[in-house]
Amino acid sequence: MAEFIPVEPFDIVIFGATGDLARRMLLPALFHRFRDRQIPASSRVIGVSRTELDADGFRRMAEEACRSAAGDGWQAEDWTAFAALLHYVAMDATDPGADWKPVTERVVPAPGRPAVFYLATPPSLYVPICRALGAVGLAHSAARVVLEKPIGSNLATAREINDGVGAVFAEDRVYRIDHYLGKETVQNLMVLRFANALFEPVWSRVAVDHVQITVAESLGLEGRADYYDRSGALRDMVQNHLLQLLCLTAMEPPSSIEGDNLRTEKIKVLKALKRITHAEARSKTVRGQYSAGMIGGELVKGYLDELGPGAGSRTETFVAIKAEIDNWRWAGVPFYLRTGKRMPRRHSDIVIQFKPTPHSILGDVGEEPNRLVIRLQPDEGVQLFVQIKEPGPGGLRIKSLPLNLAYAETFTLRYPDAYERLLMDVVRGNLTLFMRREEVEEAWSWVDGLIHAWEESDAGPAPYQAGTEGPLASAMLLDRDGRTWWNPPR
Ligand code: BG6
Repeated sequence: MAEFIPVEPFDIVIFGATGDLARRMLLPALFHRFRDRQIPASSRVIGVSRTELDADGFRRMAEEACRSAAGDGWQAEDWTAFAALLHYVAMDATDPGADWKPVTERVVPAPGRPAVFYLATPPSLYVPICRALGAVGLAHSAARVVLEKPIGSNLATAREINDGVGAVFAEDRVYRIDHYLGKETVQNLMVLRFANALFEPVWSRVAVDHVQITVAESLGLEGRADYYDRSGALRDMVQNHLLQLLCLTAMEPPSSIEGDNLRTEKIKVLKALKRITHAEARSKTVRGQYSAGMIGGELVKGYLDELGPGAGSRTETFVAIKAEIDNWRWAGVPFYLRTGKRMPRRHSDIVIQFKPTPHSILGDVGEEPNRLVIRLQPDEGVQLFVQIKEPGPGGLRIKSLPLNLAYAETFTLRYPDAYERLLMDVVRGNLTLFMRREEVEEAWSWVDGLIHAWEESDAGPAPYQAGTEGPLASAMLLDRDGRTWWNPPR
């Protein structure tokens, strides 16, 4: 039976506590874990930010955020109890002259009590904040720091951050979060692969034709233009979420999921990712930027209009890449990656496209090769498309139909979202679903190659209309290989 196992009492200090991430994700996640009695009432949540607020103002802000996340499940008494955990300190944590006493005196000094420092700030503040934490004695042996993505904007800046943070916190105290790893279906991918004997023998170039990983969003900038325009889809989504999905799909079976085994296998995949040369960037990558278009019957603005009047930008809001993994298992099996904003609808899927049967005994009856679709969101589930005979007279007719495991039909439980699960892992000291330093740096080193190639090219991103599947070149990328993107039926 599903059961929430309480964690020990802890303190969490959230830097950037009035920002978008804290309001949309972190505070509601903590509230939900508290409501389910997983977080003991003697824990503390200490918000830190430059915004001038008092504790009541912070509680009001948090209440609004938690109420909108809880929806119909809102209970005033849960909130009252949770609000008692909340504290707030208005300060500039990067100011060398800042007075840290209001923070240090709120973090309970009990030996062994976990103190979590969550940096929900721009990455440029990670090192100064960690240094300050070290200087005021908060980087003690039960302290751990959580770094949000993006960790830097290229390999060099990622290294600077990792060095700076590492000078204060040992590697086993650094939790580099990628919220995709906390998603229920992403974890199910490991169960599917490694708890079923069925898949492993066919999980390689022997039976797999190619793999597609799509993370499509219908949303646009959502008020994050400042960050997004400096980042773009490659840095915002591919360097982290898509490469993590690729690693989990392609890695060798670890000997167990304990300790560092899983992370070690993921790093091997990143090291085996074939570098895309400048000359190949044109044929193996596609960049796009959305223009105005219709989504769900509504006209939405183009990217440049969202940025503001007169804005010019070459930032990509769509990327498609043909990635290849140089090892025995995957030689000759392309991994097509695609992500974009303002696509027709939100869906994230990993598609394992199997090879056709070696010889058809049935003649020309429209046999389709098997396909395994792992649907990450929405409507989480797994579908294995198999060929079946259409019943009835009129000759032998074949249909490709899914064996369908839809989460919503099979499980009625509300399961914790990614941040809820990952925050509890930090408190428990479980690093399995967090990225090791090398992992982040290997991913950057691969992505850096693409960034350089794009920077040298005269061509900017190709326009695509909002509400479409990206630029035409994305379809062509697969068409050249005799393949097509798989999209879920509408
Ligand atoms: C974030 C990106 O990491 O992931 C956003 O910065 C993106 O741009 C988001 O919208 C997508 O996450 P999810 O969980 O909604 O798929």
